[in-house]
Amino acid sequence: MIKTAFYDAKEYDKPSFERYGGLNGVEFRFLETKLNEDTVALARGCDAVCVFVNDTVNAAVVDRLYEYGVKLIALRSAGYNNVDVQHAYGKVHVVHVPAYSPYAVAEHAAALLLTSVRRIHKAYNRTREFNFSLNGLTGFDLHGKTVGVVGTGKIGRIFVDICRGFGMNVIAYDRFPAKDSGIDYVPLDELFERSDILSLHCPLTDETRHMIDAAAIEKMKKGVVILNTSRGALIDAEALLEGIKARKVGAACLDVYEEEADIFFEDRSGHILNDDLLSRLISMPNVIVTSHQAFLTEEALNNIAETTVSNIRSCFDNDGICDNELCYRCGNIEQCKKARRERCF
Ligand code: NAI
Repeated sequence: MIKTAFYDAKEYDKPSFERYGGLNGVEFRFLETKLNEDTVALARGCDAVCVFVNDTVNAAVVDRLYEYGVKLIALRSAGYNNVDVQHAYGKVHVVHVPAYSPYAVAEHAAALLLTSVRRIHKAYNRTREFNFSLNGLTGFDLHGKTVGVVGTGKIGRIFVDICRGFGMNVIAYDRFPAKDSGIDYVPLDELFERSDILSLHCPLTDETRHMIDAAAIEKMKKGVVILNTSRGALIDAEALLEGIKARKVGAACLDVYEEEADIFFEDRSGHILNDDLLSRLISMPNVIVTSHQAFLTEEALNNIAETTVSNIRSCFDNDGICDNELCYRCGNIEQCKKARRERCF
């Protein structure tokens, strides 16, 4: 049995991980707490840790895992900005789930967009109170509008297809444009200037952090709708709030938030929320916040569990080679072992 400390476990995680783990010799120790420097000791005696988006796997945590003899950090997410991958090189292997259901995330972005522009969130509450007035519920057609997509990877491409289905004009920006995709790529500033709707689907990196800041919002069309189902820190939330207050930003739909780590995924009703910025955003009639739930479909949960268990198995089996091991950016490009399908270390 490969003993795996499963941090930040939620009720919806357990059935699929128990099922696939049981079938493949991986025993999960489910822990409600998130992984950080205070909780890393709970991984003592385990072969691997399984972590999610709000676990903190910085250099200090990596060093402690190494000290405890933990061999593997298995992310059950696609994004890995919360792991110091370079520091893990030579110490602890890191794997992730590159794709589990890009449809889940792209469809959630579309759901947020439709909810926002047709005021469904308002109408739902009204009719529950038997208020059948239409005042203030006027939306706009998506057909013919220009949507700017930032990041045309797995999720972004599906979102592009959904938008085309609505008859929208799609323009995109990607640091690495997809060749022969038929997508109309434009520079980022032009995307800001032309988009009626802007949807973020790129990873969080040093380069993309706060890519939507006051200067970017300044360039946008009045009334722009901003969707973020990627990572919270792509947006400077204070600048977004100012843009909303200035009536420049017409609506914002946020599945992620920069400071979500201690808030999202938990029931905070009945508590006083200490985050004034998030409270203010939520109080706005044209802001919709979901709690990092874009991935949450039956299909995605099954795929995440199946791939994570398979990743863990591969790392502990025979040659230890796992296709989903991350690149540690070790700098040894000429002799890249990963490219030769060998273990990095
Ligand atoms: P992907 O790796 O297939 O695509 C990312 C795209 O972003 C690539 O085309 C890449 O070239 C592009 N990119 C990289 N740097 C860029 C830059 N500086 N500017 C513009 N584009 C850049 O990733 P995938 O699967 O499409 O996921 C996208 C993001 O969605 C993930 O990084 C993750 O943060 C987020 N995500 C959110 C989930 C949720 O539940 N809300 C669930 C899964 C992913």
